Amino acid sequence: MSLVDARGVSLSYPGRTVLRGVDFSVQPGELVSVLGPSGSGKSTLLRILAGLLKPTSGHILVDGAPLEGPRPDVALAFQDPCLLPWLSVERNVGFGLGFSRQPSLTRAERRERVTAALHEVGLAHARAYMPRQLSGGMAQRTALARCLTRQPRTLLLDEPFGALDEVTRTDMQRLLLKVVQDTHAGTVLVTHDIDEALLVSDRIVLLGAQGSLIAQWHVTVPAPRAAQVQALGALRIEILQALQDSMARSRTAA
Ligand SMILES: Nc1ncnc2c1ncn2[C@@H]1O[C@H](COP(=O)(O)OP(=O)(O)OP(=O)(O)O)[C@@H](O)[C@H]1O
Ligand SMILES: [Mg+2]
Repeated sequence: MSLVDARGVSLSYPGRTVLRGVDFSVQPGELVSVLGPSGSGKSTLLRILAGLLKPTSGHILVDGAPLEGPRPDVALAFQDPCLLPWLSVERNVGFGLGFSRQPSLTRAERRERVTAALHEVGLAHARAYMPRQLSGGMAQRTALARCLTRQPRTLLLDEPFGALDEVTRTDMQRLLLKVVQDTHAGTVLVTHDIDEALLVSDRIVLLGAQGSLIAQWHVTVPAPRAAQVQALGALRIEILQALQDSMARSRTAA
């Protein structure tokens, strides 16, 4: 049984259909990247998987049971780390653990979770820093740690590294791989970057401009992949071609 299973998911706004009959699943410990042109519904799909939006038709199963709304074991992060500027790193990371949908934890348990998450993302030394003292990479680590305090079984990331420079982004990609390995969370990464998808994913899915899932690839090249440019090159061209075809089709349809 899949951890998360989307079956025939469609989403329409008045006068506009964003997602059409999307079948999509994630296994525990699997990292799936979602590529697609701007406006193809990638963020919408993540919101649906997070239980924040209800599909117009189709449904989402988590561990085989229908998803009714947001759950504590499903964490979502965005390109903007969304830190509260008046709270320290530590308090930003713990923020949300007291929310009503979270399991009730004692103070000591909360502190323990925050400490473990800060260690996991390499920020134990920076727990007292304020957001204004953080680099872009550190801010994203803080946002990732905030997700990890929930001990998520499903991790949903919407272009989390899009605003980072090349070196910091590479660092964050390595961290993401470590986090997925350590937590065994089923992970969905929305990205615009084909190379990023090729470097980190077990599987890549492509949402077409019309909001249907049009292709998927299993990436079997072993890690570390950064040194295997040749092995990944042919796949890169195939994905780029599929992306361009989908955009050309949507221009013809428009
Ligand atoms: N509340 C809304 N009402 C109407 N249309 C909406 C609403 N929210 C999103 N949309 C439309 O849904 C489509 C898909 O949006 P979405 O943000 O999921 O795309 P995306 O693939 O994440 O794009 P990007 O790569 O630019 O982030 C867009 O055309 C957007 O305008
Ligand atoms: Mg988006």
